[in-house]
Amino acid sequence: MKYKSIAIDGPAGSGKSLMARMLSEQKGYTYLDTGAMYRTVALKAIRSGIDTLDGEKIAELIKNINFKLVIKDNKQYNYLDNRCVDGLIRTNQVSKGASDVSKFPPVRLFLVEMQRQVAKEHNVVMEGRDIGTYVLPDADYKFFLTASNEVRAKRRLLQMQQEGKTVTYEEVLADIIYRDKQDSERDFAPLKKADDAIEIDTSKMGIDEVFATLSGYINGK
Ligand code: DC
Repeated sequence: MKYKSIAIDGPAGSGKSLMARMLSEQKGYTYLDTGAMYRTVALKAIRSGIDTLDGEKIAELIKNINFKLVIKDNKQYNYLDNRCVDGLIRTNQVSKGASDVSKFPPVRLFLVEMQRQVAKEHNVVMEGRDIGTYVLPDADYKFFLTASNEVRAKRRLLQMQQEGKTVTYEEVLADIIYRDKQDSERDFAPLKKADDAIEIDTSKMGIDEVFATLSGYINGK
């Protein structure tokens, strides 16, 4: 039996994580946040004192990394060196590091194989940068979410403040601009809308409206 897949791509802060989570709950599908996997690799590099922009060292690191993706009750848990690191990968330092390491093909090939495996075994809502273009080109539905830099930075700031983190608007905006540029300019599987993806600019939309739009396409309303 072929499993169903929904691909949601877009830049940081476009609302794709929240939408992917809500859709996965509505449909009873597994939610896979692929960014969390790049973040886990970045955390390993940072812990090992490796420069996240040093391609050779990162390629070496990926050969020996003890990274395990666990799917349980439709949810994802990222294990590094036998510990779940999901509470440690949402800092600005890890965000930047994830964007850095994600441009190196050995990292992408390693993670994409796991991502495709999840889609072979589960109905999935998969969210990232290259899901519709590269990871799951045959996904049943493809969405590409966007929003202005300012709106995305404000959303990210609020989210981080709610998590008790002390960051400024300027720091968050700078992180978003740095990552968008690097993520969309890299050679291998860059951040890009798939030709057959539905693009939604969420700048002026509330959560309920975006969700209604996405689920409207999927449920044919
Ligand atoms: O979605 P996120 O902000 O957690 O992603 C962190 C970084 O990981 C992002 O800046 C680029 C990289 N990434 C990627 O290259 N490809 C993906 N499919 C997901 C994330």
